[in-house]
Amino acid sequence: MNLTLKIWRQKNADDKGQLVDYKVTDISEHMSFLEMMDVLNEQLINKGEEPVAFDHDCREGICGMCSMYINGEAHGPDRGITTCQLHMRSFKDGDTIHIEPFRATAFPVIKDLVVDRTAFDRIQQSGGYISVNTSGNTQDANATPISKIDADKAMDAATCIGCGACVATCKNSSAMLFVGAKVSQYALLPQGQVEATERVLNMVQQMDDEGFGNCTNTGACEVECPKGISLENIARMNREFLKASL
Ligand code: SF4
Ligand code: FES
Repeated sequence: MNLTLKIWRQKNADDKGQLVDYKVTDISEHMSFLEMMDVLNEQLINKGEEPVAFDHDCREGICGMCSMYINGEAHGPDRGITTCQLHMRSFKDGDTIHIEPFRATAFPVIKDLVVDRTAFDRIQQSGGYISVNTSGNTQDANATPISKIDADKAMDAATCIGCGACVATCKNSSAMLFVGAKVSQYALLPQGQVEATERVLNMVQQMDDEGFGNCTNTGACEVECPKGISLENIARMNREFLKASL
């Protein structure tokens, strides 16, 4: 298939940036979206032009790096997948595709489609950990019974890959789905209780300090999340926050 790409090009954080048109031809419907971008970059390199900078790593939906806003949607038109899992069969011959970086004040553009998501790292560092006895007297994990329901919910929350699609798609640039998942992952388990109070207070404080907006319950984050993280996690974080504040 032959496509027109309108891609956000921005030299650095200070550059104003603009959409630039490119043509790609003979794209197979079996290619992933990132492979299509590789084809474009080969063309640009062969012509002596600067390739389009974009983040990627695992290319199998695990690392959360491939942050692209495609035709107005985080990770493109399909649900429950990342950009690297999006295939060209989701588009038609002759289509024009708009490709932009994730946009949020807390995710400044570094270059082209690459944004700085270290704000998420700082939120994690503020509370995304537990204390474990490593003195040699460590208790066997199976000696702490956990209900199947809680274990499953904690596991579901832990599938968040920190991609930032929830922030990019939210009209308030809220990070509450991400932080809700990270708080819930520990709040549901006995191992997470030692730091429970300071965890939620510190993570919410860091989230606010980074400039993320507040949640107004539109639910766009849940729709665009590639891992199906539920809004229930935001409600749990709010309950944990209230409990910790009291
Ligand atoms: S909650 Fe979903 S959309 Fe947000 S960072 Fe985690 S995996 Fe990505
Ligand atoms: S490149 Fe790792 S999730 Fe897409």
